Amino acid sequence: MKIFTDIPSLREDLKHERGIAFVPTMGNLHAGHLALVKQAKQLSDCVVVSIFVNRLQFLPHEDFNRYPRTLDDDCKLLAELNVNSVFAPNEKILFPTKQEFLLALPPVADTLEGKFRSGFFRGVATIVLKLFNIIQPDIAVFGKKDYQQLHIVREMVRQLNLPIEIVAGETVRASDGLALSSRNQYLNKVQRLEARNLYQTLLKIRQEIISGCKDFLTLQENAINNLVKRGWKVDYIQIQNRSSLMPAQSNDQDLVVLGAAWLDNTRLIDNLEI
Ligand code: PAF
Repeated sequence: MKIFTDIPSLREDLKHERGIAFVPTMGNLHAGHLALVKQAKQLSDCVVVSIFVNRLQFLPHEDFNRYPRTLDDDCKLLAELNVNSVFAPNEKILFPTKQEFLLALPPVADTLEGKFRSGFFRGVATIVLKLFNIIQPDIAVFGKKDYQQLHIVREMVRQLNLPIEIVAGETVRASDGLALSSRNQYLNKVQRLEARNLYQTLLKIRQEIISGCKDFLTLQENAINNLVKRGWKVDYIQIQNRSSLMPAQSNDQDLVVLGAAWLDNTRLIDNLEI
Protein backbone atom coordinates (compact mmCIF):
# COMPACT_ATOMS: atom_id res chain seq x y z
CA MET A 1 0.00 0.00 0.00
CA LYS A 2 1.35 3.42 -0.93
CA ILE A 3 0.85 6.44 1.29
CA PHE A 4 0.84 9.85 -0.35
CA THR A 5 0.94 13.19 1.38
CA ASP A 6 1.23 15.43 -1.68
CA ILE A 7 -0.94 15.84 -4.76
CA PRO A 8 1.57 15.51 -7.66
CA SER A 9 2.91 12.10 -6.60
CA LEU A 10 -0.60 10.76 -5.95
CA ARG A 11 -1.71 11.99 -9.40
CA GLU A 12 1.35 10.50 -11.07
CA ASP A 13 0.64 7.16 -9.41
CA LEU A 14 -3.04 7.13 -10.38
CA LYS A 15 -2.45 8.43 -13.93
CA HIS A 16 -2.90 5.07 -15.62
CA GLU A 17 -5.53 3.63 -13.29
CA ARG A 18 -9.01 2.96 -14.60
CA GLY A 19 -12.09 2.57 -12.43
CA ILE A 20 -10.79 4.04 -9.20
CA ALA A 21 -13.04 3.54 -6.16
CA PHE A 22 -12.59 6.20 -3.51
CA VAL A 23 -13.48 6.22 0.19
CA PRO A 24 -13.07 9.63 1.85
CA THR A 25 -12.56 9.58 5.62
CA MET A 26 -11.36 11.72 8.49
CA GLY A 27 -9.37 8.77 9.84
CA ASN A 28 -9.67 7.11 13.24
CA LEU A 29 -11.02 4.18 11.32
CA HIS A 30 -13.46 1.70 12.84
CA ALA A 31 -15.41 -1.25 11.48
CA GLY A 32 -17.88 1.14 9.81
CA HIS A 33 -15.14 2.68 7.65
CA LEU A 34 -13.59 -0.71 6.98
CA ALA A 35 -16.93 -1.99 5.69
CA LEU A 36 -16.98 0.89 3.18
CA VAL A 37 -13.43 0.05 2.11
CA LYS A 38 -14.35 -3.64 1.66
CA GLN A 39 -17.34 -2.56 -0.41
CA ALA A 40 -15.03 -0.38 -2.55
CA LYS A 41 -12.65 -3.33 -2.97
CA GLN A 42 -15.51 -5.39 -4.38
CA LEU A 43 -16.27 -2.67 -6.90
CA SER A 44 -12.76 -1.96 -8.09
CA ASP A 45 -9.20 -3.26 -8.22
CA CYS A 46 -7.91 0.18 -7.34
CA VAL A 47 -9.12 1.62 -4.03
CA VAL A 48 -7.95 4.99 -2.74
CA VAL A 49 -8.76 6.09 0.82
CA SER A 50 -8.24 9.67 1.97
CA ILE A 51 -7.57 10.60 5.58
CA PHE A 52 -8.01 14.26 6.33
CA VAL A 53 -9.67 16.04 9.26
CA ASN A 54 -11.36 18.87 7.41
CA ARG A 55 -11.39 22.12 9.37
CA LEU A 56 -14.02 23.60 7.01
CA GLN A 57 -16.72 21.31 8.41
CA PHE A 58 -16.21 22.14 12.09
CA LEU A 59 -17.80 25.13 13.78
CA PRO A 60 -15.42 27.21 15.94
CA HIS A 61 -16.69 25.64 19.20
CA GLU A 62 -16.69 22.06 17.85
CA ASP A 63 -14.21 19.23 18.39
CA PHE A 64 -11.71 19.90 15.56
CA ASN A 65 -8.74 19.98 17.94
CA ARG A 66 -9.70 16.95 19.97
CA TYR A 67 -10.93 14.89 16.98
CA PRO A 68 -8.91 11.63 17.27
CA ARG A 69 -5.98 11.40 14.84
CA THR A 70 -4.56 7.87 14.53
CA LEU A 71 -2.82 7.78 11.14
CA ASP A 72 -0.41 4.89 11.87
CA ASP A 73 -3.15 2.59 13.15
CA ASP A 74 -5.42 3.62 10.28
CA CYS A 75 -2.76 2.76 7.71
CA LYS A 76 -2.17 -0.65 9.29
CA LEU A 77 -5.88 -1.45 9.02
CA LEU A 78 -6.03 -0.26 5.42
CA ALA A 79 -2.92 -2.25 4.44
CA GLU A 80 -4.61 -5.40 5.80
CA LEU A 81 -7.50 -4.74 3.42
CA ASN A 82 -5.11 -4.38 0.47
CA VAL A 83 -6.00 -0.78 -0.19
CA ASN A 84 -3.85 0.49 -3.06
CA SER A 85 -3.26 4.06 -1.97
CA VAL A 86 -3.87 6.28 1.02
CA PHE A 87 -3.96 10.04 0.55
CA ALA A 88 -3.16 11.71 3.88
CA PRO A 89 -2.28 15.33 3.17
CA ASN A 90 -1.71 17.99 5.78
CA GLU A 91 -3.69 21.23 5.82
CA LYS A 92 -1.04 23.17 3.85
CA ILE A 93 -1.44 20.76 0.95
CA LEU A 94 -5.22 21.07 0.69
CA PHE A 95 -5.42 24.69 1.83
CA PRO A 96 -2.16 26.35 0.70
CA THR A 97 -4.05 29.61 0.87
CA LYS A 98 -7.34 30.46 2.57
CA GLN A 99 -10.13 28.45 0.91
CA GLU A 100 -12.24 31.32 -0.42
CA PHE A 101 -14.09 29.43 -3.14
CA LEU A 102 -16.84 27.59 -1.31
CA LEU A 103 -19.86 25.86 -2.75
CA ALA A 104 -23.33 27.37 -2.39
CA LEU A 105 -25.64 24.56 -1.33
CA PRO A 106 -29.37 23.88 -1.81
CA PRO A 107 -31.90 24.55 1.01
CA VAL A 108 -31.77 20.95 2.23
CA ALA A 109 -28.26 21.72 3.55
CA ASP A 110 -29.80 24.14 6.07
CA THR A 111 -32.13 21.51 7.55
CA LEU A 112 -31.46 18.72 10.09
CA GLU A 113 -27.66 18.70 10.66
CA GLY A 114 -27.29 21.97 8.77
CA LYS A 115 -29.72 23.72 11.11
CA PHE A 116 -27.57 22.88 14.12
CA ARG A 117 -24.15 22.96 12.42
CA SER A 118 -24.30 26.02 10.22
CA GLY A 119 -21.92 25.77 7.25
CA PHE A 120 -21.19 22.09 7.95
CA PHE A 121 -22.35 20.81 4.56
CA ARG A 122 -20.69 23.65 2.71
CA GLY A 123 -17.43 22.52 4.32
CA VAL A 124 -18.14 18.87 3.51
CA ALA A 125 -19.16 19.54 -0.10
CA THR A 126 -16.17 21.78 -0.72
CA ILE A 127 -13.62 19.25 0.57
CA VAL A 128 -15.36 16.34 -1.17
CA LEU A 129 -15.30 18.24 -4.48
CA LYS A 130 -11.60 19.05 -3.98
CA LEU A 131 -10.84 15.39 -3.22
CA PHE A 132 -12.87 14.27 -6.24
CA ASN A 133 -10.84 16.65 -8.42
CA ILE A 134 -7.54 15.43 -7.00
CA ILE A 135 -8.30 11.70 -7.13
CA GLN A 136 -10.72 11.67 -10.09
CA PRO A 137 -12.46 8.48 -8.99
CA ASP A 138 -15.10 6.63 -11.00
CA ILE A 139 -16.87 5.45 -7.86
CA ALA A 140 -17.03 6.95 -4.37
CA VAL A 141 -18.44 5.15 -1.33
CA PHE A 142 -20.23 7.06 1.46
CA GLY A 143 -21.85 5.58 4.56
CA LYS A 144 -25.56 5.83 5.28
CA LYS A 145 -24.63 6.70 8.86
CA ASP A 146 -24.22 10.28 7.56
CA TYR A 147 -27.48 10.08 5.64
CA GLN A 148 -27.85 13.75 4.86
CA GLN A 149 -24.21 13.98 3.76
CA LEU A 150 -24.80 11.08 1.36
CA HIS A 151 -27.91 12.85 0.02
CA ILE A 152 -26.06 16.14 -0.49
CA VAL A 153 -23.05 14.51 -2.16
CA ARG A 154 -25.39 12.66 -4.53
CA GLU A 155 -27.13 15.94 -5.38
CA MET A 156 -23.80 17.71 -5.89
CA VAL A 157 -22.64 14.99 -8.28
CA ARG A 158 -25.94 15.12 -10.16
CA GLN A 159 -26.26 18.88 -10.41
CA LEU A 160 -22.58 19.52 -11.22
CA ASN A 161 -22.47 16.61 -13.71
CA LEU A 162 -19.51 14.93 -12.05
CA PRO A 163 -18.72 11.60 -13.76
CA ILE A 164 -18.71 9.68 -10.47
CA GLU A 165 -21.03 6.96 -9.24
CA ILE A 166 -21.93 7.43 -5.57
CA VAL A 167 -22.42 4.16 -3.74
CA ALA A 168 -24.05 3.94 -0.29
CA GLY A 169 -22.70 1.71 2.48
CA GLU A 170 -24.89 0.36 5.28
CA THR A 171 -24.37 1.58 8.84
CA VAL A 172 -22.35 -0.77 11.03
CA ARG A 173 -23.65 -1.11 14.61
CA ALA A 174 -22.28 -2.35 17.91
CA SER A 175 -24.05 -5.39 19.37
CA ASP A 176 -26.46 -3.13 21.32
CA GLY A 177 -27.38 -1.22 18.14
CA LEU A 178 -25.28 1.92 18.61
CA ALA A 179 -24.06 3.11 15.21
CA LEU A 180 -20.25 3.04 15.09
CA SER A 181 -18.70 6.49 15.12
CA SER A 182 -15.31 7.95 16.01
CA ARG A 183 -17.15 10.17 18.49
CA ASN A 184 -18.40 7.16 20.50
CA GLN A 185 -15.04 7.09 22.26
CA TYR A 186 -15.89 10.40 23.95
CA LEU A 187 -18.60 8.54 25.93
CA ASN A 188 -17.92 7.35 29.47
CA LYS A 189 -19.19 3.94 30.64
CA VAL A 190 -22.58 5.16 31.81
CA GLN A 191 -23.14 7.25 28.68
CA ARG A 192 -22.06 4.36 26.47
CA LEU A 193 -24.79 2.20 28.05
CA GLU A 194 -27.35 4.95 27.58
CA ALA A 195 -26.27 5.63 23.97
CA ARG A 196 -28.17 2.60 22.64
CA ASN A 197 -31.42 4.42 23.31
CA LEU A 198 -31.01 6.73 20.33
CA TYR A 199 -31.24 3.72 18.00
CA GLN A 200 -33.99 2.18 20.16
CA THR A 201 -35.96 5.40 19.73
CA LEU A 202 -35.63 5.25 15.95
CA LEU A 203 -36.62 1.56 15.95
CA LYS A 204 -39.74 2.37 17.98
CA ILE A 205 -40.76 5.07 15.51
CA ARG A 206 -40.22 2.70 12.60
CA GLN A 207 -42.34 0.07 14.33
CA GLU A 208 -45.19 2.51 14.95
CA ILE A 209 -45.13 3.70 11.33
CA ILE A 210 -45.08 0.12 10.03
CA SER A 211 -48.08 -0.56 12.30
CA GLY A 212 -49.98 2.23 10.54
CA CYS A 213 -49.33 5.40 12.54
CA LYS A 214 -49.24 8.45 10.29
CA ASP A 215 -49.15 11.13 12.95
CA PHE A 216 -45.49 11.89 12.39
CA LEU A 217 -45.44 15.04 14.49
CA THR A 218 -46.69 13.21 17.58
CA LEU A 219 -44.24 10.35 17.01
CA GLN A 220 -41.39 12.86 16.83
CA GLU A 221 -42.59 14.76 19.88
CA ASN A 222 -42.98 11.61 22.01
CA ALA A 223 -39.56 10.37 20.97
CA ILE A 224 -37.93 13.68 21.91
CA ASN A 225 -39.75 13.77 25.27
CA ASN A 226 -38.65 10.21 26.10
CA LEU A 227 -35.02 10.96 25.32
CA VAL A 228 -35.12 14.22 27.28
CA LYS A 229 -36.54 12.31 30.28
CA ARG A 230 -33.55 9.97 30.03
CA GLY A 231 -31.14 12.92 30.21
CA TRP A 232 -30.49 13.59 26.51
CA LYS A 233 -30.47 17.03 24.92
CA VAL A 234 -32.15 16.47 21.57
CA ASP A 235 -31.35 18.54 18.47
CA TYR A 236 -33.92 16.78 16.31
CA ILE A 237 -35.83 13.60 15.65
CA GLN A 238 -37.37 13.97 12.18
CA ILE A 239 -39.31 11.68 9.90
CA GLN A 240 -38.44 12.67 6.34
CA ASN A 241 -39.18 11.71 2.78
CA ARG A 242 -36.26 9.55 1.72
CA SER A 243 -35.68 11.04 -1.71
CA SER A 244 -36.16 14.75 -0.93
CA LEU A 245 -35.09 14.59 2.72
CA MET A 246 -37.89 17.07 3.43
CA PRO A 247 -40.50 16.43 6.19
CA ALA A 248 -42.60 13.39 5.28
CA GLN A 249 -46.23 13.77 4.24
CA SER A 250 -48.69 11.16 5.52
CA ASN A 251 -49.00 9.46 2.09
CA ASP A 252 -45.23 9.25 1.43
CA GLN A 253 -44.01 5.67 0.99
CA ASP A 254 -40.23 5.74 1.38
CA LEU A 255 -39.31 7.35 4.66
CA VAL A 256 -36.27 7.77 6.84
CA VAL A 257 -36.17 8.83 10.47
CA LEU A 258 -33.12 10.81 11.48
CA GLY A 259 -31.96 11.88 14.91
CA ALA A 260 -29.24 13.91 16.58
CA ALA A 261 -28.87 14.23 20.33
CA TRP A 262 -26.33 14.99 23.00
CA LEU A 263 -25.20 12.96 25.97
CA ASP A 264 -23.42 15.61 27.96
CA ASN A 265 -20.68 16.94 25.57
CA THR A 266 -21.00 14.20 22.99
CA ARG A 267 -23.28 14.58 20.00
CA LEU A 268 -24.54 11.38 18.37
CA ILE A 269 -26.44 11.03 15.12
CA ASP A 270 -28.27 8.08 13.66
CA ASN A 271 -30.98 7.25 11.16
CA LEU A 272 -33.15 4.39 10.00
CA GLU A 273 -34.89 3.81 6.68
CA ILE A 274 -38.54 2.85 6.92
O1 PAF B 1 -17.87 11.55 6.53
C1 PAF B 1 -16.75 12.04 6.76
O2 PAF B 1 -15.91 11.44 7.41
C2 PAF B 1 -16.42 13.43 6.22
O3 PAF B 1 -17.52 14.26 6.27
C3 PAF B 1 -15.81 13.40 4.80
C4 PAF B 1 -16.79 12.85 3.78
C5 PAF B 1 -14.54 12.54 4.81
C6 PAF B 1 -15.43 14.81 4.38
O4 PAF B 1 -14.49 15.38 5.22
